[in-house]
Amino acid sequence: MATTGPHIENSNRSFQPAGSEWQTPPFSITPDLFKKFQQLIHQQTGIWLGDSKVLLLCGRLSRRLRALEIPTMERYYQLVVDPTQQEERELMIDAITTNETRFFREPKQFEFLEQRAIPVWKSEAREGVRTKTLRLWSAGCSSGEEPYSLAMTMAGNLPREAGWEVTILATDVSTRMLDRARTAIYVIEKAGEIPECLLRNHMLKGYAEQAGKMKVMPEIRQMVEFERLNLMQDAYPGAVFDAIFCRNVLIYFDLATKSKVVERLTQCLDERGLLFLGQAENLSGVSSQFRTLAPAVYIRPGEKIAF
Ligand SMILES: C[S@@+](CC[C@H](N)C(=O)[O-])C[C@H]1O[C@@H](n2cnc3c(N)ncnc32)[C@H](O)[C@@H]1O
Repeated sequence: MATTGPHIENSNRSFQPAGSEWQTPPFSITPDLFKKFQQLIHQQTGIWLGDSKVLLLCGRLSRRLRALEIPTMERYYQLVVDPTQQEERELMIDAITTNETRFFREPKQFEFLEQRAIPVWKSEAREGVRTKTLRLWSAGCSSGEEPYSLAMTMAGNLPREAGWEVTILATDVSTRMLDRARTAIYVIEKAGEIPECLLRNHMLKGYAEQAGKMKVMPEIRQMVEFERLNLMQDAYPGAVFDAIFCRNVLIYFDLATKSKVVERLTQCLDERGLLFLGQAENLSGVSSQFRTLAPAVYIRPGEKIAF
């Protein structure tokens, strides 16, 4: 008789009956239904889920189906295309979007801001070429780390006491992320993403029931205004911005949507304004209206500014 090895299931306490903790596999979907979701999500957000994203779609939507006790993806689709179900469509978008972000993500762009853009803005203000008002837009701000990083950078270099008035509009399609961003509370593990002096100057540490958390200080929070804005569908802000950060957002769009979004962002950018994209993004085939100043930092070609 063949000898059997040790029965790991019985001898190892790492494996135990999970009862209700079991995560059941995601719901299944037919190719036709996947295509319908693909179109709907694209039309709603500009996000193009390639054909390889079937499991991702089912996985991300399964929590909504369970919450609503809907048994199939087909039934959920019927729900989200119902014109009266705007709220559920927004929850679907919340579930679909990828919200990964960090404080001071792509530090070289923050160095660019500090070492090249801010000195130019300061000297222009000294020469009377510009006022001391600056407007920045974080388009696709996720849970707020990007706009708060911008606010910390600007506050340290262009202080209110010296007459500077810097405002940062932070927008995203995900209401769940915006709610989280507005709290300005983050897990303490994220402290390592923030340069030490800025951490000391601009972040509060949580104690007692807030232990393990940190919160952005009020003077930084006050510089940032959060709003829901779907770059695919909504009206863009009426304001003209000195810099727009649309980083790691276009990457999820198809080419036609990228071009359309960049065209609309351009209309909100000052003639001499700066456009920041993510490091994995570029404007090739998307827009010919810019020249590159630094990796993923763009300006209009005609502008002879010493950035
Ligand atoms: C990967 S995060 C990038 C966050 C931040 N900009 C960064 O670089 O760390 C992408 C964000 O874009 C948002 N997004 C996706 N499609 C959008 C759309 N159509 N309109 C506005 N925001 C969108 C997502 O909700 C998500 O929070």
